[in-house]
Amino acid sequence: MSLRFSHSSFLLSLLFIFLSSIPAILALQNDDPTIKTMQDFSGYPVDEPTHSSISVSLSVPLSIDNQTLPKQIDELSTFSDAPDPAVTRVLYTDKDVLGRRYIKNLMGLAGLSVREDAVGNIFGRWDGYEPDLPAVATGSHIDAIPYSGKYDGVVGVLGAIEAINALRRSGFKPRRSLEIISFTSEEPTRFGIGCLGSRLLAGDVTLAKALKATVDGQNISFLDAARSAGYAQDQDDLSSVFLKKGTYSAFVELHIEQGPILEEEGVAIGIVTAIAAPASIKVDFEGSGGHAGAVLMPKRNDAGLAAAELALAVERHILESGSLDTVGTVGILELHPGAINSIPRKAHLEIDTRDIDEKRRNTVIEKIHQSANTIAKNRRVNLSEFMIVNQDPPALSGKSIIEAMEVASKELNLTHKLMISRAYHDSLFMARISPMGMIFIPCYKGYSHKPEEYASTEDIANGVKVLALTLAKLSLS
Ligand SMILES: *[C@@H]1O[C@H](CO)[C@@H](O)[C@H](O)[C@H]1NC(C)=O
Ligand SMILES: *[C@@H]1O[C@H](CO)[C@@H](O)[C@H](O)[C@H]1NC(C)=O
Ligand SMILES: *[C@@H]1O[C@H](CO)[C@@H](O)[C@H](O)[C@H]1NC(C)=O
Ligand SMILES: *[C@@H]1O[C@H](CO)[C@@H](O)[C@H](O)[C@H]1NC(C)=O
Ligand SMILES: [Zn+2]
Repeated sequence: MSLRFSHSSFLLSLLFIFLSSIPAILALQNDDPTIKTMQDFSGYPVDEPTHSSISVSLSVPLSIDNQTLPKQIDELSTFSDAPDPAVTRVLYTDKDVLGRRYIKNLMGLAGLSVREDAVGNIFGRWDGYEPDLPAVATGSHIDAIPYSGKYDGVVGVLGAIEAINALRRSGFKPRRSLEIISFTSEEPTRFGIGCLGSRLLAGDVTLAKALKATVDGQNISFLDAARSAGYAQDQDDLSSVFLKKGTYSAFVELHIEQGPILEEEGVAIGIVTAIAAPASIKVDFEGSGGHAGAVLMPKRNDAGLAAAELALAVERHILESGSLDTVGTVGILELHPGAINSIPRKAHLEIDTRDIDEKRRNTVIEKIHQSANTIAKNRRVNLSEFMIVNQDPPALSGKSIIEAMEVASKELNLTHKLMISRAYHDSLFMARISPMGMIFIPCYKGYSHKPEEYASTEDIANGVKVLALTLAKLSLS
């Protein structure tokens, strides 16, 4: 079958209008030299040239094995430390090791050559007929936070293996090699670091150093945990994990939306144009505490009230940004000593704020900092800590990858829409070393990170088809 698509200029101009409405976050200048823009990280020109989409000739139409894939998703979910349907699969635990073995086995059965790096990122490669060209990569993660679902990440790993199998069945021969990556520790559960594997692949030197001294809640070091799972043998230096820019010509991740939009609108495929990035902040206020009865109100400096005021200020500053894409959450608020008859002597807050516009997000952080200082002064407490824990830049999808995903959806007669990803993914970090794109599929009520998480076989099969055709186009380009 020969699939062809010719662009109408109308659709192109719609795409252009949409893209130009995304603020040009990449071009912004930063005053703070410690904050890197995407351009600093990527090194490749941000407006990479678009090329007309390649048409892919297949001897047999693409078909997804919609019996086997759901069975594999169920099988993988049995490697879990929580009872079905909940899934708990934490980095380097026995269940994680079993899950990894399952994936490597399926990669082998799909005829891929399998390798792992020092932290356990798993790679399965199908060599193209021009194997020296930069490969096209896809993948996601199989770790699962406690009591979560079967689909987050898993759809993008098992789905990628099925996409390769489907391309083989249809007689496709890749020009650029196709490579599947199962990333280590997308979830921050064990060591508090999300997207650990992809951050390292993207060459995060600071993280590689920090991991030598990182321990989990049980005081088990990262390196000991990695060794117990068979990784990081004879080496403390994790720089071997870093990939060179240009290793991949493209990276595409298939993922459940983890939000309600596609299901509500009855759209089959979400094409991600940008990924919002989080910044997290830790704040401590300290006051002098005292007896809840004996200390009169004018004499108090209540650290708890300072924290409460800051939480409201966070909300105010987020709303002042004027964009629905700016969000902020105070997810942790702890009072010490935490007794009903004791004035809080210390208060600890953790703030998560996200945006697809880095400058706008950093402005919010600056305002939160100013408020923290003002509140501390007015309430005569000390702002003993204001620490920006991480401040990752957002990422834009590659234009040519967006185009390939759109054309693939159209050729497969699947409804699609352009959207942004409000959750972050390994793709956010892969964007530092490769042009990137993401394919979203609907999930039940947008549920994720809980056992009710669900995606239908039909929606998964649609996503896998779009992934397969997109990989095929990118492989030939
Ligand atoms: C954690 O382990 C290290 C090295 O084994 C030890 O020196 C340290 O005291 C431990 N810390 C805690 C809080 O147990
Ligand atoms: C705040 O810090 C200053 C300087 O370290 C200290 O003298 C003061 O007692 C602290 N105030 C409170 C309320 O903890
Ligand atoms: C998409 O629809 C067109 C027109 O109805 C049809 O010719 C084509 O075969 C369909 N393609 C697929 C992959 O179903
Ligand atoms: C599975 O695939 C077959 C053949 O393409 C199709 O007829 C059937 O509707 C699919 N089932 C689901 C649940 O998507
Ligand atoms: Zn995920």
